[in-house]
Amino acid sequence: MEKLDDPQQIAQLDPQGMLQVEEAFYTQLVQAREIAQSVDLSKISGKKYAGVVFTGMGGSGFAGDIIKSLIEHSVHIFTESVKGYRLPGYVNKDWLVVAVSYSGNTQETVACIEQAVKLGATILAVTSGGRLAQIAQDHDCAVIKVPSGFQPRGAIGFLFLPTLLALKKLGIVHMDLVDINEGLDAVKNLSARLSRKVPTGKNFAKQLACAIGDRLPVIYGTQGYLRCIAYRWKCEINENAKTPCFWAHFPELNHNETVGWERLASVTRNFVLIILREQDEPPSIKTRIDTTISLIRENLGQVIEVPVEGRSLFCRAVTALYLGDIASVYLALLSGVDPTPVEKIEKLKQELAKLDQS
Ligand code: PA5
Repeated sequence: MEKLDDPQQIAQLDPQGMLQVEEAFYTQLVQAREIAQSVDLSKISGKKYAGVVFTGMGGSGFAGDIIKSLIEHSVHIFTESVKGYRLPGYVNKDWLVVAVSYSGNTQETVACIEQAVKLGATILAVTSGGRLAQIAQDHDCAVIKVPSGFQPRGAIGFLFLPTLLALKKLGIVHMDLVDINEGLDAVKNLSARLSRKVPTGKNFAKQLACAIGDRLPVIYGTQGYLRCIAYRWKCEINENAKTPCFWAHFPELNHNETVGWERLASVTRNFVLIILREQDEPPSIKTRIDTTISLIRENLGQVIEVPVEGRSLFCRAVTALYLGDIASVYLALLSGVDPTPVEKIEKLKQELAKLDQS
């Protein structure tokens, strides 16, 4: 706990400044909104698309996940998020393919974009450079160019907000700018409450990190955007804190995972379950969550219910995302782990790159 309130220890443990990136998330969102204003969409405007497919992996792929979850119930065309090497068979020349890769060099995303080129689909590339930028240039595609120098997961604001606003400009998404402003204001407010300067006693993100400590976290969300956010928390805990973490979502988990908490209590009593909860849950969801807690509580070390706040879905999503991101960085620092490097991902990518050279 003391570690998190000691600026010198934080500086030593975080030489590349991941916490600073999180503390500046509001500024990143403001810049991201400016990037959206300057993007040239003329090449892809004025078309009627049969669907939008987002393709991307890891930190970049999350941009597609969250946008899809925010828009899928209000748009009248298909939306899909692909995490892998191949686009689904139903994607054709009438689709918009949104390829998101921060580095621009992720094998799976590059494979999908090459497929999209062959299909004659319309392409929007979101990247800081690399092969994706090159392919986009070669085929005269629209590009959202994002600033380089970040870890992909630390650039999530740059990756998702201009993309969402581009879809709005294209007339695919009908989203009120008031909602975006609400979200940005809420992040500004939250980041002041969660910054390193705010001691653990008053800082919910630090408290979450302390509650997890050396226990295994499990994150539960709910169908829709909170499902994505639960997944994001899991990924951020993996990548920043180098800690195993698992996730699931209501209502599906009530049809399987709930039963799984019966055995291995001596192991699972060292788990902490974190449940993302809206204040205005529909009765069916509220009852599910409350009942699930009472059914499984005794086999868990701790259950933490995290309130998700905000009027609009956008605001709820972006603030819940932010809380998980910064809490995972505090968990890293608490555990004496440098949050920035992801050596295992780098090593894997190096091995895979050899395949392209052979
Ligand atoms: O957070 C990370 O570093 C990873 O999850 C990457 O985002 C993932 O490997 C894909 O790389 P990129 O975002 O450059 O496409």
